[in-house]
Amino acid sequence: MRPAPHSPPAVAGRIDIRNLSIRLGQGRQAFEAVQNVSLGIEPGEFVCLLGPSGCGKSTLLGTLAGHLQPGSGDIRVDALPVEGPHPERGLVFQHHTLFPWLKVVDNVAFGMKMRGIGRQERSREAQRLLDRVGLSEFRHHYPSQLSGGMQQRVEIARVLINQPKVMLMDEPFGALDAQTRMMMQQLLLDIWESIRTTIVFITHDIDEALFLADRIIVMSPRPGRIIEQIAVEFARPRRAELITTDGFTRLKHRCLELLHPKSNHPLPRLSPLGTVP
Ligand SMILES: Nc1ncnc2c1ncn2[C@@H]1O[C@H](COP(=O)(O)OP(=O)(O)O)[C@@H](O)[C@H]1O
Ligand SMILES: [Mg+2]
Repeated sequence: MRPAPHSPPAVAGRIDIRNLSIRLGQGRQAFEAVQNVSLGIEPGEFVCLLGPSGCGKSTLLGTLAGHLQPGSGDIRVDALPVEGPHPERGLVFQHHTLFPWLKVVDNVAFGMKMRGIGRQERSREAQRLLDRVGLSEFRHHYPSQLSGGMQQRVEIARVLINQPKVMLMDEPFGALDAQTRMMMQQLLLDIWESIRTTIVFITHDIDEALFLADRIIVMSPRPGRIIEQIAVEFARPRRAELITTDGFTRLKHRCLELLHPKSNHPLPRLSPLGTVP
């Protein structure tokens, strides 16, 4: 993995997943959602899980977070088995989980409050992180007074205040418009390049995975298995122009081949009504 300029090498946040299978549902409805996944992730690495809807990405992430039990296999972070949720594994979802009745600054400081840290220190740290995500002016607003992109920035600050070894992000920008989404991707990379926490980022958007990741883990349709791992060696820091380069297009074709194996990847032909048949 290529270290980012000026960033300290990460020492914590190694993930080891071995022969992981996850069953969901009860009785005759039970099915295997994730099948025999083995994966090692280096401390400070940015990994994207890419796969079709329903292939088990969120299930896999939920197990990493400690919210779901694996059916079989083993998940470790820094050699310790994952036995339940922990603030050192911070989760960010597509929709924010901020408390609507708390101001932005108190939402961000909440994790420190839970750890019994005094008001002054947590307010200073929350302020620093709000600066980092460009929202210090909005510290006294309530979540409902912010746009979707701003809410996700607060959410990221709320997770970062716990100094996580690992950030688990489940389509965090999936509900944002294209322009806000690109801005958030850039912001996330800037933050990651300065703190170098391990990031496992789920997306079904090939461009997003290629722009962000050091490595893309491509999953099959259900039951989710790893079908390929793609090293993404574009130089960092990455800028928006990257997506217009030949190297980017080449890897994008490879991802399309893997996600849509039967087609030859021309653009989908439109029916006379303009819908994809
Ligand atoms: N609690 C559950 N009980 C039964 N089926 C579930 C449950 N959660 C998810 N599923 C199903 O499991 C499969 C994998 O879901 P999920 O991990 O959410 O996929 P992805 O995040 O890749 O879209 C899907 O077919 C989904 O409908
Ligand atoms: Mg999902």
